[in-house]
Amino acid sequence: MKVLFKNDYNEVSKAAAEIFIKQIHDKPDSVLCLATGSTPLGLYSELIAANKQGTVDFSDVTTFNLDEYVGLDPKHEQSYKYFMEDNLFNHINIKKDHYNVPSGIESDYDAYCKKYEDKIESAGGIDLLLIGVGENGHIAFNEPDKSLSAVTHVVDLTEDTIQVNSRFFASADEVPKKAVTMGMGSILKAKKIVLIITGDKKAHVLERLMNDKSISTEFPVSFVLTHRDVTIIADAAACKNMHK
Ligand code: F6R
Repeated sequence: MKVLFKNDYNEVSKAAAEIFIKQIHDKPDSVLCLATGSTPLGLYSELIAANKQGTVDFSDVTTFNLDEYVGLDPKHEQSYKYFMEDNLFNHINIKKDHYNVPSGIESDYDAYCKKYEDKIESAGGIDLLLIGVGENGHIAFNEPDKSLSAVTHVVDLTEDTIQVNSRFFASADEVPKKAVTMGMGSILKAKKIVLIITGDKKAHVLERLMNDKSISTEFPVSFVLTHRDVTIIADAAACKNMHK
C-alpha cells in the first residue's frame, strides 16, 4: 500500500489526477470505476482541464460508477447519474455509451445487478478504481454490518449516512433509504485502487486504517488492506491524528 500525504485538498486532487492521466496514457482504452460525493470533485476538475488542454483523451475510455440511490430518476439533480454528467462526463470527450452509472429505477434488481457485474467483466474488468470513504468507514454504499455482499446489490442506507448525505437534499426525509452499490468483491477485483481521504471529519478513519491493521465488516474500508495495489491520498486535515 502506498500512502501519499499532501498539504491540502488541491494537492490531493492534482496527485489523483496524475494517476488517472498516467493510467489513460498507458492504456487509452482503460476501464475506470468512479465515485460521487465531495471527495472527487477536485480530481474531476483537474481531468476536465487536462482534457480541454488536450493532455488526456477519454475517447476510448469506459467507466462504471460505484453506486446510485434507489428511487431517483437519472434526471433528478441528486441522482449520481446527474452528478457524474454535471461534474465530469458532459465536459470531457467520453462517448455517451461508454459511461455506466447503476440505474436507480429498476423493477428487478437481482437481474439488474447481475447484468451490471457481467458488463464490467465483458469490458475486461476495472483497471483503476476510485473510492472515497464515509465517516463511518463505508466504501461505495457498503455500510458497516455483520457481513458484506461480494457483488453488486441493493442496500438499506444507515441512519448515519442518511444524515451525512442530507446536506444535498432539502431535508433528511428526502434522502432515499436504499441504494444500489457494487460489492466488496466487485471493488477488490479492480487491478488498482485509489482511495482519497480528506478533511478532519475523516481523520479517525485514516488513523484506524493506518494503525489498526485488522479487517472488519464493521469497518468496510479496512478491506483495502487486502489489495495488492492501493494508493491512499490524504490531506493534512485527515492526517491530524497520525502523529498521536
Ligand atoms: C460515492 C460513494 C460514497 C462516498 C462517501 C464519501 O459514490 O460511493 O461511498 O465516497 O460517502 O462521501 P464524500 O466524498 O461526500 O465525503
